[in-house]
Amino acid sequence: MNQILKQKLQRWPRFFLFLVVLKRSPSWFWNKLGAWRQLVPYRWRRYPDVTFYGFHGDRVLRELVSEIIEEFRPTALVETGTHKTTTTLFLAKLASTRMPIYTCEISGPYFRESRWRLHKAPGVIIQQLSSPVFVNRLVKQKALGERPFFFLDAHSGGNVPLQEELRALSSLQQAIVIIDDFVVPERSDFGHDVYEYALGKVRSYDLEFISPALNAQHDYQVFFPQYTAQEAFGNNFINDGLRGYLVLLVNLRSELQRAHAAG
Ligand SMILES: C[S@@+](CC[C@H](N)C(=O)[O-])C[C@H]1O[C@@H](n2cnc3c(N)ncnc32)[C@H](O)[C@@H]1O
Repeated sequence: MNQILKQKLQRWPRFFLFLVVLKRSPSWFWNKLGAWRQLVPYRWRRYPDVTFYGFHGDRVLRELVSEIIEEFRPTALVETGTHKTTTTLFLAKLASTRMPIYTCEISGPYFRESRWRLHKAPGVIIQQLSSPVFVNRLVKQKALGERPFFFLDAHSGGNVPLQEELRALSSLQQAIVIIDDFVVPERSDFGHDVYEYALGKVRSYDLEFISPALNAQHDYQVFFPQYTAQEAFGNNFINDGLRGYLVLLVNLRSELQRAHAAG
C-alpha cells in the first residue's frame, strides 16, 4: 500500500510539470499530439460530418455552391488544397456522379489520409501535386470540359500559389472560381489569412494581388459575401467564424442574366 502511494506521489511532480508546459505552450502540446495522431490508423480517426463542416461550416457558402452547380452546370469541379477532404466529400455529395471532381494536396500525410478517405467516393480524383502544376495539367489535358468550377484553397505558411493557379486556368474560355480566405472589403468580420510570401513580404489575397494573373481578354464579374455569422452558422458557432472569399465568374455574364431572369 505504502509502495503504491509512494509511486503515485512520485508521479505528481511530472503531472504538475506537464500542466505547466501545457499552460505556457499550448501549441507545443497540440503539435506533439498531432505527431502522435499520425500513428492512429485512418479507420479509427474521427472526422467531422461533411454535410455541416464542408466549406468551413458556412451554410450560406454551401448553398451558394449548390446553386452554382444547379444554375451553371459546371463540367468539372476542382479543389486545390484537399487537406482532409471535408469540402471534397461535400462536393462529391452535391455532384454525385454527374461531373468529375479533381483535388490536389501537396502534403504527404494529408494526401495519404485523403486518398484513403476518398477511395469510396465515385468520380473523385486526388493527386499529390502542387496546385499550379495540377491545374496546368488538367487544362492542358482538356480534362475539365468547357465550364469548370474551381475552389482555390491551397495555401500554408509561405506557400501562396494563388497567382500561378489563376494563370494556369486563364486560358479557359469560361469558369466559375471561388477563392477562399480572400479579403472582403469593408467587412472585417470575414477573416482571411496573411501570408509571408517572400523574405519579409507579407500580404493577403485581394483584388490588387490577383489582377496581374487575370486574362485581359476575359470578362470577369466579382462578388463578395454580404451576410452575417448568424446566417452562416445559426446558433452552432463553429470553426473560427466567417472566412472571406471571392466569387469570380469568367465570361458568364449572359448566363448569369438568364439565371436572374428565370428567377
Ligand atoms: C485551408 S487547407 C484546405 C482545406 C480544404 N480545402 C477544406 O475545405 O477542407 C489548405 C491545404 O492546402 C495544402 N497546400 C498548401 N500549399 C499547397 C499547394 N501549393 N498545392 C496543393 N496543396 C497545397 C495544405 O497542405 C493544406 O492541406
